[in-house]
Amino acid sequence: MDVKERIAMDLEEARRRTETLLAPVDDARLMAQQDRLMSPLVWDYAHAGVFEELWLVQQLSGSAPIDERLMHLYDAFENPRAKRAELALLDRHQAMAYRDQVRNRVLSILEEVDLESDDPLLQRAFVYQMIVEHEHQHDETILATLQLLQGGYRPALPATPPGREVARDAVRVPAGDYPAGTDDHAPYDNEHPRHPVRLAEFEIDRFPVTNGDYAAFIADGGYRRRELWSDAGWEFVQAEGLEAPKFWRRDAGPETDHRGPATGDAAVAGDRRAGTAAAWRVDRFGHDVEVRPDLPVMHVCWHEAEAYARWAGKRLPTEFEWEVAASFDPATGAQRRYPWGDDPPDATRCNLDQWLYGCAPVGAYPGGASAFGCEQMVGDVWEWTSSDFLPYPGYRTFPYAEYSEVFFGGDYKVLRGASWAARPSVARVTMRNWDHPIRRQIFAGFRLASGGEVA
Ligand code: AVJ
Ligand code: FE
Repeated sequence: MDVKERIAMDLEEARRRTETLLAPVDDARLMAQQDRLMSPLVWDYAHAGVFEELWLVQQLSGSAPIDERLMHLYDAFENPRAKRAELALLDRHQAMAYRDQVRNRVLSILEEVDLESDDPLLQRAFVYQMIVEHEHQHDETILATLQLLQGGYRPALPATPPGREVARDAVRVPAGDYPAGTDDHAPYDNEHPRHPVRLAEFEIDRFPVTNGDYAAFIADGGYRRRELWSDAGWEFVQAEGLEAPKFWRRDAGPETDHRGPATGDAAVAGDRRAGTAAAWRVDRFGHDVEVRPDLPVMHVCWHEAEAYARWAGKRLPTEFEWEVAASFDPATGAQRRYPWGDDPPDATRCNLDQWLYGCAPVGAYPGGASAFGCEQMVGDVWEWTSSDFLPYPGYRTFPYAEYSEVFFGGDYKVLRGASWAARPSVARVTMRNWDHPIRRQIFAGFRLASGGEVA
């Protein structure tokens, strides 16, 4: 297959996935705002088309917009999320027709474009890859909105792969100067440039924190103990009345347990469950399911991760500690593209690409271990780090400031890895995601570190 055919196929596949995710959603839910933090689903869908027109039609051919109005309606900065449902948005069919029109133009321009030119937008088909990754990222946002529909979106849940008995220990990373970031042309500007980072010796957990671990924190009064929280974290937990990860609810107990009849031992069973994940149930895309103790904890905000770390006597890793533990190979002195090496992700190494609608248990992917021995770093959950979202030394904006630059130095913490809802093309060890420290609806969890020189 030649490069242009490949590009056309990737564009087609990206759009098909978005449409597949949205197909079961009724029109009312598609147009409505589910949460003030999220866009109406139909906004994300048309926004991906507008972004495609902007870069693959207007930028590459110099032509005027198909409809100037749409350039404003779907501009993320002109219209903050909370306002998007009030706009005169295209409905599903109008948006599909618009996207067809855009795609036809994109494909005819693609035929003419010179991919050998020295325009950095075209080098290694950068701008096409950017559009594909952009749609993939919006698909993850769409999934976060679909999870909020609780019953309004109810896909069949596939079987979860088996975990294995694992040591829940930490690996040691020696002090040293390590490479971080990348000079590869394809990744986002905020991953550039490759630069050395000096790390003190530290330890980082082999696995992410699980639901079982987190349930013990809750049972130990984690949400009520002021000393475990930062000022901002405490204020948030109090204001929201938080007592567990988002989408968790207390199991009513054996008496009302529809899974089986109550027995004379009901009270004893209740006691046994207190303090464990079994005391909780969770909404998983419209299905009321048990909280499995062996799955990575998900839907916790940065403040909850930080409080848990304090409770556990550890801390969150910095984004560079995370990256080194995930990517550095001491045998070669080089960075790997993925924790396991440079081979593309597959189902033996990680849980990506959206189909599982949730996490796999710890131990499910021994083939995905990093050189230092950390598992499930890419896939399952995005992992909160202690780092603020800042540019690397020597950072240069490319190709537009609204992807990264405008967010640097804001109220954002860096997340690393990738969640089960990320597409493979946006999963790599240098990838940086970021969000507000209060965000809980994203597919985020964390793992712990200790030692080092970070407070
Ligand atoms: C990198 C996930 C924080 O969704 O806000 C989508 C990605 N940028 N459209 C976001 C993005 C522009 C971005 N995150
Ligand atoms: Fe976007």
